[in-house]
Amino acid sequence: MRAVLVIGIGAGDPDYMTVQAIAALNRADVLFVLEKADEQADLLALRRHICDRFITGEQPRIAAVADPPRGRGDTPEEQRRLVADWRRRRTDLCARLIGDELGEDEVGAFLTWGDPALYDGMTDVLAQVAAEGTVEFEVEVVPGISALTALAARHGVPLNRPGGAVLITTGRRLAAGLPADVDDVVVMLDGELAFKCVPGDDFEIYWGAYLGTPDEILISGRLREVEDEIERVRARARERKGWMFDTYLLRRLR
Ligand SMILES: C[S@@+](CC[C@H](N)C(=O)[O-])C[C@H]1O[C@@H](n2cnc3c(N)ncnc32)[C@H](O)[C@@H]1O
Repeated sequence: MRAVLVIGIGAGDPDYMTVQAIAALNRADVLFVLEKADEQADLLALRRHICDRFITGEQPRIAAVADPPRGRGDTPEEQRRLVADWRRRRTDLCARLIGDELGEDEVGAFLTWGDPALYDGMTDVLAQVAAEGTVEFEVEVVPGISALTALAARHGVPLNRPGGAVLITTGRRLAAGLPADVDDVVVMLDGELAFKCVPGDDFEIYWGAYLGTPDEILISGRLREVEDEIERVRARARERKGWMFDTYLLRRLR
């Protein structure tokens, strides 16, 4: 039977590739690539570097297709419709890729940034393709080192406090309000500096940009004392590189 691997390649440092991820990469006959129109050259280069460095046998065939663009709706209804339409097109595309590009007993692989379990839609798409039954295949997911584990490691802090909970959320949700009973929150996908919306002076922040890469930046401290510095450093880095990837932990002081 065809097999499709979803391989977490880690969030920036090629050394984040696990032994399991390297073994999985070396099983692939075909690498599926969904090319995003706005994908950053640095991220493409890292994927290439990982293949060159870790594939020891013959290089797999590459099956590359354009990832369908996802529009942004003006109203929640419009947004829901656009997302549903985007998912539909991605599902059809992946079904075609697996059916057309993979021989009966071959192995295909998608490389996903960080860990496939965090803000990555590939496992959902493959579950949908499998449920629709147009092509038969099995899925194997290989975990990777996520931006949030990289963040904790680089700052040398745990994400939770003893026996405590951690909320993992997006900038947009944080901007809508932090639940009163949440003391520790990891924020990803924040284009808008949502930490500025957190009221009061009882949080500290552990912020990391381009984690695991040569451009990595780390800032930590009492939120109200370092937020302007983060804003300045972030804007400068974004201008210099043309893109930004940052993640942070907010921790309520007790
Ligand atoms: C689409 S999500 C993918 C997350 C990924 N699956 C993971 O496990 O890290 C992209 C977001 O992850 C975070 N991120 C990914 N790589 C990062 C890095 N090297 N440094 C800082 N944040 C990163 C950023 O918040 C970015 O907006």
